[in-house]
Amino acid sequence: MGSKEISDLQYCSYPSNQRSTKGSNSRPQFRQVLLALSIASVVVLMLLVPAADVFSEIDRVKSERNSKNTKLNLLKDVIGEEEYEKAMSSKKYRFTGNNKCRMCHRAFFLGRKKDAHAHNFRKVMKYPEDKNNPGCLVCHTTGYGVPGGFSSLSKTPKFREVQCEGCHGPGSLHAEMDSKGGLLIGQDRPERMKKACSFCHTKRWNKSFTNLDKAFKAYKNAESSRAQGYIE
Ligand code: HEC
Ligand code: HEC
Ligand code: HEC
Ligand code: HEC
Repeated sequence: MGSKEISDLQYCSYPSNQRSTKGSNSRPQFRQVLLALSIASVVVLMLLVPAADVFSEIDRVKSERNSKNTKLNLLKDVIGEEEYEKAMSSKKYRFTGNNKCRMCHRAFFLGRKKDAHAHNFRKVMKYPEDKNNPGCLVCHTTGYGVPGGFSSLSKTPKFREVQCEGCHGPGSLHAEMDSKGGLLIGQDRPERMKKACSFCHTKRWNKSFTNLDKAFKAYKNAESSRAQGYIE
């Protein structure tokens, strides 16, 4: 994405229509203009490259810490409090973990093994002081804040990472049904799923994609987004 902007800029700084039309006298002038343009383009590039990185990883982590994140339950946020309370009190929706999903969706499971979601927890672990910070865990684990979902590394290590149920919601009912349906964020509810994507992929954490619809579609298939060539 960034490199495209840069190459466009480079083209702009050598406009071919600046060729001299006034005979040989204006040649030195043309060289000066060219020189000035190249210097200007270098300056612009120097400004642009760090600008893209101003919000560096550590800046983003710090601003997240300072923001005192209060959105600490993806499922409740996505399906709404009323339905969430109903679903939880019915006791039908429990998190089963990835291995359960693998039993019937082997291809999906294998595809997802390459997916960055399934390996993201180490990003949080780069900042050990945050390993128990709810304001981080909610986006880097499965089912944080929901009964039976991730609560801490010592109690629920198997729910670290964003697993199948991190996007689809608790899957016990669906697994018992052994058919379509039974998921709170299933295929019949694309709008909910998009809300789930946006819950984690906020303005601060926006490096993964620029087009939600395109990124969403990439997740339909068994292969991981990267394996399908979904790289912007
Ligand atoms: C006992 C087998 C079984 C297990 C376990 C299972 N599924 Fe399924 N799943 C199915 C079947 C059967 C379908 C329907 C397939 C079809 O119609 O093509 C399905 C369809 C789906 C769909 C698309 C339809 C919908 O309702 O949204 C999703 C998403 C899904 N499963 C996710 C999961 C997840 C996540 C898990 C782990 C929590 C899981 N499945 C575990 C059997 C299972
Ligand atoms: C629970 C939080 C969460 C949800 C929900 C979520 N993501 Fe992510 N996503 C992440 C995190 C964290 C990463 C960074 C993983 C890494 O780089 O280690 C990520 C990475 C990605 C990437 C980059 C993958 C790569 O190979 O580099 C894409 C694309 C993406 N997400 C799209 C989506 C889409 C589309 C949805 C909704 C269908 C979605 N995400 C739902 C947290 C989430
Ligand atoms: C980053 C979020 C995310 C993760 C993680 C994720 N899925 Fe999905 N899944 C999606 C999206 C988005 C769709 C497309 C939904 C739609 O079409 O409305 C989907 C669709 C599906 C479907 C139906 C596909 C079809 O076209 O019939 C199945 C089955 C499924 N997922 C299973 C799984 C399993 C099993 C895992 C874990 C190994 C998993 N998903 C992990 C986002 C995710
Ligand atoms: C609202 C959801 C959300 C919260 C809260 C959140 N993250 Fe993330 N984080 C993401 C997503 C999505 C990505 C991948 C996309 C990106 O890097 O922009 C990510 C990426 C990262 C990365 C990799 C950044 C990079 O430049 O490669 C680190 C490190 C990280 N998060 C640590 C943390 C820490 C530490 C906290 C808490 C202080 C935290 N995150 C809170 C969603 C979140």
